Amino acid sequence: MSEPITDLIHHAYTPPAGFNAPQPGVFKASTVIFPNVAAMRARDWKHKAGYTYGLHGTPTTFMLEERIASLEGGKHCILVPSGLAAIANVAMALLRSGDEVLIPDNAYGPNKALADGELKNWGITHQIYDPMNPSDLQARLSPKTKLVWLEAPGSVSMEFVPLPQLAAICRERGVTTALDSTWSGGLAFNGFDAGADIVVHALTKYPSGGGDVLMGAVVTRDDAMHLALKLTHMRLGWGVGANDAEAILRSLPSLPIRYQAHDAAARQLAAWLQARSEISRLLHPAFEGSPGHQHWRALCGGNAQGSGPTAGGLAAGLFSVVFDNRFSTTQVDTFCDALKLFKLGYSWGGPISLVVPYDIASMRSARLGPCPYEGTLVRFSVGLEAVEDLRVDLEKALEKLR
Ligand SMILES: Cc1ncc(COP(=O)(O)O)c(C=O)c1O
Repeated sequence: MSEPITDLIHHAYTPPAGFNAPQPGVFKASTVIFPNVAAMRARDWKHKAGYTYGLHGTPTTFMLEERIASLEGGKHCILVPSGLAAIANVAMALLRSGDEVLIPDNAYGPNKALADGELKNWGITHQIYDPMNPSDLQARLSPKTKLVWLEAPGSVSMEFVPLPQLAAICRERGVTTALDSTWSGGLAFNGFDAGADIVVHALTKYPSGGGDVLMGAVVTRDDAMHLALKLTHMRLGWGVGANDAEAILRSLPSLPIRYQAHDAAARQLAAWLQARSEISRLLHPAFEGSPGHQHWRALCGGNAQGSGPTAGGLAAGLFSVVFDNRFSTTQVDTFCDALKLFKLGYSWGGPISLVVPYDIASMRSARLGPCPYEGTLVRFSVGLEAVEDLRVDLEKALEKLR
């Protein structure tokens, strides 16, 4: 039995058609031709034994679905046009008018926006919970709760939440959990082992790796859950393009190596920034003192006695810093503007380093108490440039604060 990461390269799955070449083919189609009426009537779009219509799958999309399912240790995978569409697919399949969904305070922002927009309009309520405090989640569960979102680490503020504990609380109460595991890249930890029922990924990030494709995936182990998600997916008409699927298929074999490179570079730069007097706080789950570091170590910590690139655990290429509050937001903006290699832009997981300043207090629910971070927060996504060049870029930009 091979490791999932080996399966990305040597995969047992073969598409039903007789195409044969070393690289995945790009099969583009809306119409699929049937040999006769009997075959047309007999074929079931829900099963991968054959093809019915481009929206329901081609050899290219089936192949990517199987590889992502393997990567995450799942049984089924559904591809959607973006990571946010994966979140929406889950919500729309599982929630009905009168239901409630719980979302962590540090979740990817548009997940909360969806709840506050469409879901609210459809009579579905939501509550924001404190994911660092399992008893807060416990207290908010009610018979109305039909879905709980999990995310580790939290978007932007990077707290690594006690995932297995949160998932166990929901399981005990019979509530379905969905994990946004984009940060893990399917590598740093396994979402199902952590207790989630559904795992979503924005393939836009590390699996694509090029910053040029938008796509999402919904992975499950349970057949009935998969069917519910797939029916919603079919009714929404959320197909993905074969060229985009092929671009991700090309990138997957290098995913583990790229992920480790992003991680190693980010840790070097985070350590350097942490020692600077301009920075009051480093938010990187692999660093002692960062919120939830112990939970990261428990889930992603690797083998401290081992050797090799993953011995120190895996942690992606993202981190945030809080500037000392002697610096105004305008000064921190000046720092960001002065960076040359780190570009100002959203998203992460591509070869180019990115930076975004955030007003973190405005992103947190006031009901959960005051925001623990004073000062302006800046999030870095470390790309694949030479680390020393990136360090010099940071140093020169910090000099602008003098
Ligand atoms: C944690 C997380 N989940 C989901 C998404 C959404 O991905 P996409 O941009 O493909 O919609 C993002 C995008 O930044 C993200 O950071």
